[in-house]
Amino acid sequence: MNSIDSLHEKIISRYENESSQNCSLSCGSTLDELNIKQGEYILDLGCGRGTDTIHAAKSAGKGGAAVGLDLTEAMIEIAKSNAAKEKVNNAIFVKGEIENLPFPDEYFNCVTSNCVINHAKDKVKVYQEIFRVLKPGGRFVVADAVSKESLPTEVKNDPEAWAQCFGGAVTEKEYFDSIILAGFQYVDILNSREYKKNGYDFTSLTIKAVK
Ligand SMILES: C[S@@+](CC[C@H](N)C(=O)[O-])C[C@H]1O[C@@H](n2cnc3c(N)ncnc32)[C@H](O)[C@@H]1O
Repeated sequence: MNSIDSLHEKIISRYENESSQNCSLSCGSTLDELNIKQGEYILDLGCGRGTDTIHAAKSAGKGGAAVGLDLTEAMIEIAKSNAAKEKVNNAIFVKGEIENLPFPDEYFNCVTSNCVINHAKDKVKVYQEIFRVLKPGGRFVVADAVSKESLPTEVKNDPEAWAQCFGGAVTEKEYFDSIILAGFQYVDILNSREYKKNGYDFTSLTIKAVK
């Protein structure tokens, strides 16, 4: 597989183009399952155009906030402008990598992410970072793609396939092993939907765990 930098270049190039379009980039719905309470701090990993972050910020209301983080500068700019249009002041947007979160330990009540972590080469690192920034008792609800079978090497080695949300998908077992290795004890499946992409079988999972 190519270096992390060349993978990120491919991802940024895809999402720069899609930042100003209206196409859906989600693979599940996470916010209903998060049950955000007023005053909570929420982190949205790979926030894209900021739709979920803005929604979460509204639910957190006064005294709470939602932070959206994304690798793609163009997404961050669109998300900021969408929050400004809606006059949502407690939605904050930060450029960064889900593998290295620029936040202190035990800062957030909950973390959400929708169709993003499949893009990451080191999924254990991502879940370790989620574990680190969650307060004790904090929760995550994540929607993501997993593959039914291990993907062929040529797909795993193709950065374009990773950028297109399928080359980086691992099996459900590998995905859950990453979460458990990161420190979470149980993972609940809240929702699942099967689909085909480029001739391969995938499942979109919405999952939850508590620190
Ligand atoms: C499929 S889109 C999902 C956007 C949003 N969550 C939604 O549901 O509309 C994936 C987003 O994750 C971002 N992303 C991909 N890899 C990332 C990484 N390593 N760190 C931070 N953001 C990343 C992309 O820039 C893109 O905006």
